[in-house]
Amino acid sequence: MHWAIAVAVVGLVVMGWWMQTIPKQPVGPRADAYNLHKSIGLAALLLMAVRLAWRASHRPPELPSLPLWQARAAVAVHLLLYALMFIAALSGYLGSATSGYPVKLFGWVLPSWAAAHDAVKDACSLVHLASNWLLVAAIGAHVAATIYHQWVLRDGLFWRMWPVGGRLRKRTVEARSAG
Ligand code: HEM
Ligand code: HEM
Repeated sequence: MHWAIAVAVVGLVVMGWWMQTIPKQPVGPRADAYNLHKSIGLAALLLMAVRLAWRASHRPPELPSLPLWQARAAVAVHLLLYALMFIAALSGYLGSATSGYPVKLFGWVLPSWAAAHDAVKDACSLVHLASNWLLVAAIGAHVAATIYHQWVLRDGLFWRMWPVGGRLRKRTVEARSAG
Protein backbone atom coordinates (compact mmCIF):
# COMPACT_ATOMS: atom_id res chain seq x y z
CA MET A 1 0.00 0.00 0.00
CA HIS A 2 2.92 2.37 0.76
CA TRP A 3 4.38 2.00 -2.72
CA ALA A 4 1.07 2.10 -4.60
CA ILE A 5 0.15 5.32 -2.77
CA ALA A 6 3.64 6.77 -3.24
CA VAL A 7 3.49 6.23 -7.03
CA ALA A 8 -0.08 7.61 -7.16
CA VAL A 9 0.72 10.72 -5.10
CA VAL A 10 3.90 11.60 -7.03
CA GLY A 11 2.03 10.99 -10.31
CA LEU A 12 -0.90 13.16 -9.13
CA VAL A 13 1.41 16.03 -8.22
CA VAL A 14 3.09 15.96 -11.65
CA MET A 15 -0.26 15.56 -13.39
CA GLY A 16 -1.88 18.32 -11.30
CA TRP A 17 0.66 20.88 -12.52
CA TRP A 18 0.80 19.58 -16.09
CA MET A 19 -2.98 19.38 -16.74
CA GLN A 20 -3.37 23.10 -16.05
CA THR A 21 -1.05 23.90 -18.97
CA ILE A 22 -3.39 22.14 -21.47
CA PRO A 23 -5.21 24.79 -23.56
CA LYS A 24 -8.90 25.31 -22.68
CA GLN A 25 -9.86 24.97 -26.39
CA PRO A 26 -10.69 22.44 -27.72
CA VAL A 27 -12.43 21.34 -24.49
CA GLY A 28 -11.80 17.54 -24.70
CA PRO A 29 -8.12 16.95 -23.80
CA ARG A 30 -8.11 19.28 -20.77
CA ALA A 31 -11.38 17.83 -19.41
CA ASP A 32 -10.09 14.26 -19.95
CA ALA A 33 -6.88 15.02 -18.02
CA TYR A 34 -8.84 16.66 -15.17
CA ASN A 35 -11.20 13.68 -15.00
CA LEU A 36 -8.28 11.23 -14.93
CA HIS A 37 -6.59 13.28 -12.16
CA LYS A 38 -9.81 13.23 -10.13
CA SER A 39 -10.31 9.49 -10.67
CA ILE A 40 -6.75 8.57 -9.65
CA GLY A 41 -7.00 10.98 -6.69
CA LEU A 42 -10.24 9.37 -5.49
CA ALA A 43 -8.82 5.85 -5.95
CA ALA A 44 -5.78 6.94 -3.92
CA LEU A 45 -8.10 8.36 -1.24
CA LEU A 46 -9.86 4.98 -0.94
CA LEU A 47 -6.52 3.20 -0.68
CA MET A 48 -5.37 5.71 1.96
CA ALA A 49 -8.47 4.96 4.05
CA VAL A 50 -7.82 1.20 3.81
CA ARG A 51 -4.18 1.83 4.71
CA LEU A 52 -5.07 3.96 7.71
CA ALA A 53 -7.44 1.26 9.01
CA TRP A 54 -4.73 -1.37 8.50
CA ARG A 55 -2.10 0.78 10.20
CA ALA A 56 -4.40 1.47 13.16
CA SER A 57 -4.88 -2.26 13.73
CA HIS A 58 -1.30 -3.45 13.03
CA ARG A 59 1.74 -2.44 15.02
CA PRO A 60 4.83 -1.79 12.86
CA PRO A 61 8.16 -3.37 13.91
CA GLU A 62 10.09 -1.33 16.49
CA LEU A 63 12.33 1.38 15.01
CA PRO A 64 16.04 0.47 14.93
CA SER A 65 18.08 2.25 17.62
CA LEU A 66 18.32 5.87 16.51
CA PRO A 67 19.18 9.14 18.25
CA LEU A 68 15.98 10.38 19.94
CA TRP A 69 15.66 13.43 17.66
CA GLN A 70 15.80 11.23 14.56
CA ALA A 71 13.13 8.85 15.90
CA ARG A 72 10.93 11.84 16.76
CA ALA A 73 11.54 13.47 13.38
CA ALA A 74 10.61 10.20 11.61
CA VAL A 75 7.32 9.94 13.52
CA ALA A 76 6.56 13.64 12.94
CA VAL A 77 7.21 13.44 9.18
CA HIS A 78 5.15 10.23 8.87
CA LEU A 79 2.22 11.88 10.69
CA LEU A 80 2.57 14.93 8.47
CA LEU A 81 2.59 12.75 5.34
CA TYR A 82 -0.59 10.96 6.43
CA ALA A 83 -2.34 14.25 7.30
CA LEU A 84 -1.28 16.04 4.09
CA MET A 85 -2.25 13.13 1.84
CA PHE A 86 -5.76 13.20 3.27
CA ILE A 87 -6.05 17.00 3.22
CA ALA A 88 -4.87 17.12 -0.42
CA ALA A 89 -7.27 14.39 -1.56
CA LEU A 90 -10.28 15.64 0.45
CA SER A 91 -9.83 19.29 -0.57
CA GLY A 92 -9.55 18.16 -4.22
CA TYR A 93 -12.78 16.22 -3.90
CA LEU A 94 -14.70 18.93 -1.97
CA GLY A 95 -13.56 21.61 -4.43
CA SER A 96 -14.74 19.47 -7.34
CA ALA A 97 -18.05 18.59 -5.63
CA THR A 98 -18.83 22.30 -5.21
CA SER A 99 -17.61 23.35 -8.68
CA GLY A 100 -20.90 22.71 -10.47
CA TYR A 101 -19.31 20.03 -12.70
CA PRO A 102 -20.12 16.34 -12.16
CA VAL A 103 -17.35 14.35 -10.42
CA LYS A 104 -16.61 11.09 -12.25
CA LEU A 105 -14.72 8.04 -11.03
CA PHE A 106 -13.26 6.48 -14.19
CA GLY A 107 -16.38 7.50 -16.15
CA TRP A 108 -18.93 6.63 -13.45
CA VAL A 109 -20.76 9.81 -12.36
CA LEU A 110 -20.71 10.08 -8.54
CA PRO A 111 -23.85 11.28 -6.75
CA SER A 112 -23.88 15.06 -6.50
CA TRP A 113 -24.73 16.17 -2.94
CA ALA A 114 -23.64 19.84 -3.03
CA ALA A 115 -24.78 22.85 -5.01
CA ALA A 116 -22.20 24.92 -6.93
CA HIS A 117 -20.57 27.32 -4.46
CA ASP A 118 -17.77 29.59 -5.71
CA ALA A 119 -16.44 30.66 -2.30
CA VAL A 120 -16.21 27.05 -1.01
CA LYS A 121 -14.68 25.92 -4.30
CA ASP A 122 -12.03 28.70 -4.15
CA ALA A 123 -11.20 27.93 -0.50
CA CYS A 124 -10.79 24.22 -1.36
CA SER A 125 -8.55 25.09 -4.33
CA LEU A 126 -6.35 27.16 -2.01
CA VAL A 127 -6.13 24.32 0.53
CA HIS A 128 -5.40 21.88 -2.32
CA LEU A 129 -2.57 24.08 -3.60
CA ALA A 130 -1.04 24.74 -0.15
CA SER A 131 -1.31 21.13 1.01
CA ASN A 132 0.34 19.97 -2.22
CA TRP A 133 3.32 22.28 -1.75
CA LEU A 134 3.70 21.09 1.86
CA LEU A 135 3.33 17.48 0.70
CA VAL A 136 6.14 17.95 -1.83
CA ALA A 137 8.37 19.39 0.95
CA ALA A 138 7.50 16.53 3.34
CA ILE A 139 8.15 13.91 0.62
CA GLY A 140 11.50 15.61 -0.10
CA ALA A 141 12.51 15.34 3.59
CA HIS A 142 11.21 11.75 3.75
CA VAL A 143 13.14 10.60 0.66
CA ALA A 144 16.29 12.48 1.78
CA ALA A 145 16.11 10.67 5.15
CA THR A 146 15.75 7.31 3.39
CA ILE A 147 18.78 8.08 1.19
CA TYR A 148 20.77 9.09 4.30
CA HIS A 149 19.91 5.75 6.00
CA GLN A 150 20.62 3.69 2.91
CA TRP A 151 23.86 5.24 1.70
CA VAL A 152 25.37 7.03 4.69
CA LEU A 153 24.31 5.01 7.77
CA ARG A 154 23.85 1.87 5.63
CA ASP A 155 21.48 0.41 8.22
CA GLY A 156 19.12 -1.19 5.65
CA LEU A 157 16.13 0.82 6.94
CA PHE A 158 14.78 1.10 3.38
CA TRP A 159 13.97 -2.64 3.41
CA ARG A 160 11.53 -2.19 6.30
CA MET A 161 8.99 -1.03 3.71
CA TRP A 162 9.16 -4.25 1.62
CA PRO A 163 7.41 -7.61 2.20
CA VAL A 164 10.67 -9.59 2.48
CA GLY A 165 12.38 -6.62 4.11
CA GLY A 166 13.51 -8.40 7.28
CA ARG A 167 15.81 -10.76 5.37
CA LEU A 168 17.18 -8.03 3.05
CA ARG A 169 17.81 -5.72 5.97
CA LYS A 170 19.74 -8.43 7.85
CA ARG A 171 21.88 -9.03 4.75
CA THR A 172 22.67 -5.29 4.42
CA VAL A 173 23.63 -4.98 8.09
CA GLU A 174 25.81 -8.15 7.90
CA ALA A 175 27.55 -6.89 4.74
CA ARG A 176 28.25 -3.57 6.48
CA SER A 177 29.71 -5.32 9.57
CA ALA A 178 31.86 -7.59 7.33
CA GLY A 179 33.15 -4.71 5.21
C1 HEM B 1 -3.46 12.97 -2.82
C2 HEM B 1 -4.19 13.24 -3.87
C3 HEM B 1 -3.96 14.42 -4.78
C4 HEM B 1 -2.81 15.10 -5.10
C5 HEM B 1 -1.40 14.83 -4.58
C6 HEM B 1 -3.18 16.16 -6.02
C7 HEM B 1 -2.27 17.07 -6.58
C8 HEM B 1 -2.63 18.18 -7.33
C9 HEM B 1 -1.71 19.23 -7.75
C10 HEM B 1 -0.21 19.28 -7.44
C11 HEM B 1 -2.43 20.15 -8.45
C12 HEM B 1 -1.87 21.44 -9.10
C13 HEM B 1 -1.74 22.52 -8.05
C14 HEM B 1 -3.07 23.13 -7.67
O1 HEM B 1 -3.58 23.95 -8.43
O2 HEM B 1 -3.60 22.78 -6.59
C15 HEM B 1 -3.81 19.71 -8.46
C16 HEM B 1 -4.86 20.39 -9.05
C17 HEM B 1 -6.17 19.94 -9.06
N1 HEM B 1 -6.65 18.80 -8.46
FE1 HEM B 1 -5.59 17.45 -7.37
N2 HEM B 1 -4.53 16.12 -6.25
C18 HEM B 1 -5.04 15.07 -5.52
C19 HEM B 1 -6.36 14.67 -5.47
C20 HEM B 1 -7.40 15.28 -6.14
C21 HEM B 1 -8.80 14.85 -6.11
C22 HEM B 1 -9.31 13.64 -5.32
C23 HEM B 1 -9.49 15.71 -6.88
C24 HEM B 1 -10.97 15.74 -7.21
C25 HEM B 1 -11.79 14.71 -7.08
C26 HEM B 1 -8.55 16.71 -7.41
C27 HEM B 1 -8.88 17.76 -8.23
C28 HEM B 1 -8.02 18.74 -8.68
C29 HEM B 1 -8.43 19.91 -9.47
C30 HEM B 1 -9.85 20.22 -9.94
C31 HEM B 1 -7.26 20.65 -9.70
C32 HEM B 1 -7.14 21.98 -10.53
C33 HEM B 1 -6.91 23.15 -9.61
C34 HEM B 1 -8.14 23.44 -8.78
O3 HEM B 1 -9.24 23.63 -9.34
O4 HEM B 1 -7.98 23.43 -7.53
N3 HEM B 1 -7.29 16.41 -6.94
N4 HEM B 1 -3.90 18.50 -7.76
C1 HEM C 1 10.95 7.09 -3.45
C2 HEM C 1 10.09 7.47 -2.55
C3 HEM C 1 9.95 6.89 -1.14
C4 HEM C 1 10.81 6.14 -0.39
C5 HEM C 1 12.21 5.68 -0.78
C6 HEM C 1 10.15 5.86 0.88
C7 HEM C 1 10.67 5.11 1.90
C8 HEM C 1 10.05 4.81 3.09
C9 HEM C 1 10.59 3.96 4.13
C10 HEM C 1 11.94 3.26 4.08
C11 HEM C 1 9.69 3.95 5.14
C12 HEM C 1 9.80 3.15 6.46
C13 HEM C 1 10.26 4.02 7.59
C14 HEM C 1 10.43 3.16 8.83
O1 HEM C 1 11.39 2.42 8.89
O2 HEM C 1 9.56 3.20 9.72
C15 HEM C 1 8.56 4.78 4.77
C16 HEM C 1 7.45 5.03 5.55
C17 HEM C 1 6.42 5.87 5.20
N1 HEM C 1 6.27 6.52 3.98
FE1 HEM C 1 7.57 6.47 2.44
N2 HEM C 1 8.92 6.47 0.88
C18 HEM C 1 8.76 7.11 -0.34
C19 HEM C 1 7.69 7.84 -0.77
C20 HEM C 1 6.60 8.14 0.04
C21 HEM C 1 5.50 8.99 -0.37
C22 HEM C 1 5.37 9.69 -1.74
C23 HEM C 1 4.64 9.04 0.69
C24 HEM C 1 3.33 9.76 0.84
C25 HEM C 1 2.91 10.74 0.16
C26 HEM C 1 5.19 8.23 1.77
C27 HEM C 1 4.61 8.04 3.00
C28 HEM C 1 5.12 7.26 4.02
C29 HEM C 1 4.50 7.12 5.33
C30 HEM C 1 3.19 7.79 5.78
C31 HEM C 1 5.32 6.24 6.06
C32 HEM C 1 5.07 5.77 7.50
C33 HEM C 1 4.48 4.39 7.49
C34 HEM C 1 3.93 4.01 8.86
O3 HEM C 1 4.71 3.82 9.78
O4 HEM C 1 2.71 3.90 8.95
N3 HEM C 1 6.38 7.70 1.33
N4 HEM C 1 8.80 5.29 3.51
